[in-house]
Amino acid sequence: MQHRLDDVKAQVQAALDEAMANLPAGELTDAMRYACIGGKRLRAFLVMESARLFGLSDRESLPVAAAVEALHAYSLVHDDLPSMDNDDLRRGLPTCHIQWSEATAILAGDALQSLAFGLLTETQISGPEARLSLIRAFAEAVGARGMVWGQALDIAAETAIQPLDLVAIKRLQSAKTGALIVFSATAGAIMAGEDTAALTEYARNIGLAFQIQDDILDVTGSEAQTGKRLNKDGTANKATFVSLLGLEGAQDKARKLVRSAEAALEPFGDEAGNLRDLARFIIERDA
Ligand code: IPE
Ligand code: IPE
Ligand code: MG
Ligand code: MG
Ligand code: MG
Repeated sequence: MQHRLDDVKAQVQAALDEAMANLPAGELTDAMRYACIGGKRLRAFLVMESARLFGLSDRESLPVAAAVEALHAYSLVHDDLPSMDNDDLRRGLPTCHIQWSEATAILAGDALQSLAFGLLTETQISGPEARLSLIRAFAEAVGARGMVWGQALDIAAETAIQPLDLVAIKRLQSAKTGALIVFSATAGAIMAGEDTAALTEYARNIGLAFQIQDDILDVTGSEAQTGKRLNKDGTANKATFVSLLGLEGAQDKARKLVRSAEAALEPFGDEAGNLRDLARFIIERDA
């Protein structure tokens, strides 16, 4: 898996650099490029590895992988803003609004979102239907029923009078983190016009496990490894699986989710080895 992840990383960085190559020179473009530095690129990996299961080449899936990472970069820039999580460290560097200004960070995020939609239109797949389905699914995943909604629930939960219960936390995290992960893992099936059910089931489980591990690392991780400030969730009164179940409960839950994710991949047999490895990596990672 590591070899493929390195390969995806290099391809995605090149695609993002190319997509931003001809933008007007200035602070906005500099901030957009800055926001796209680094990252584990796990969502891009999901796009390209799941697309491969349906016989799609890297050339066909790369614009989608780059789109997902541009969108994700925007979500992080806005997530770090003073009015959101108020963070000053991201991917081991000062956050975008610290490096530039709050206005530039907001605008860079906006423009990265537009860039993402533009990239999606560049996929070389046959048939306008598949292309439209892909763009529609992306819009759903990242908007007011998906990622942005989850972020709204996350912020609202900080000041909720009653702590959120398990059902509410699951809803919040499935939207803020899960929706983009589900899109990433199903993009290949959508492009190929195939059934998305098995990969949706896989991605729902790893999406939740991913956010649980993020919440665990906020408590147990190292700043050098994660490249971000830690012990922020407790201070901000965030609603997480850790806040509700405790560390061991959350770890146990994440392990169960990964087992369910692995089971969902069974129809794909050995071909899905990298996706299976990714599911395990998600809860073993320290960054
Ligand atoms: C961080 O995502 C934000 C969450 C949804 C928890 P990642 O941990 O994938 O961030 P990068 O892209 O590797 O920096
Ligand atoms: C961020 O979740 C999720 C999105 C950006 C959509 P977190 O706020 O937990 O992510 P980190 O811990 O800042 O990376
Ligand atoms: Mg947040
Ligand atoms: Mg945050
Ligand atoms: Mg976090």
